[in-house]
Amino acid sequence: MSTAVCPGSFDPITLGHVDVVRRARSMFDEVVVAVAHNASKRSLLPPEERVRLAEDALAGVDGVRVVATDGLLVDLVRDVAACAVVKGLRSGADLDAELAMALMNRHLSGVETVFVVGDPGRAHIASSLVKDVARHGGPIEDMVTPAVAVAVRRALAPDGGGEDGR
Ligand code: PNS
Repeated sequence: MSTAVCPGSFDPITLGHVDVVRRARSMFDEVVVAVAHNASKRSLLPPEERVRLAEDALAGVDGVRVVATDGLLVDLVRDVAACAVVKGLRSGADLDAELAMALMNRHLSGVETVFVVGDPGRAHIASSLVKDVARHGGPIEDMVTPAVAVAVRRALAPDGGGEDGR
C-alpha cells in the first residue's frame, strides 16, 4: 500500500487544500494530512482546532486521515511509512517556497516531494488571504467549509483568543 503525507499549516484548511488532498489521494492508496508547525508563521487557530476542521473538511474523502505533528516532517513521514510528500502549487511563488523545503526534506531523509497543480479556479485561495478578508469583514464562505468560516470569524472576534503566537 502506498502512503503519502500532505503537510501544511492548515490555518485554516481551505477548499484549495481539499482539492490538493483529493488529487493526492488519486495517486496514493492513503494520504496522511499532517497539521504541522511552520516556524515562520503565526497561527490564528490552535493545532487541535486545525485538526478538527481538517477532519471535517475531508470527511467525504476516503483513505485520508489527519494527524498533528510538532516535530520534523520527515520523522512523521518515517513513522507512517510514507513514500512521498505531496504539496500543492498555485504559482511560481509557491514553487520558490516549496523547493527549499522539498530539498531540505530530501537531504534529511531521502523522501521525494510530489508537486500537484491545483484547480486554477481555486488558485486565489490562500489561508492567509482568507483570514485577511475575514478580518476586514469580507465574505469567505466560498473559499472554506462552513465550519471553518465560523471558526475563523470566532477566532478573529475581539475576545476570540486568536493569533496564538505560534
Ligand atoms: O502550509 P505551509 O505553512 O506552507 O506548510 C509548511 C510546513 C508546516 C509543512 C513546514 O513548515 C514543515 O514541514 N514544518 C514541520 C517542521 C519541519 O519539518 N521543518 C523543516 C521543513 S523543511
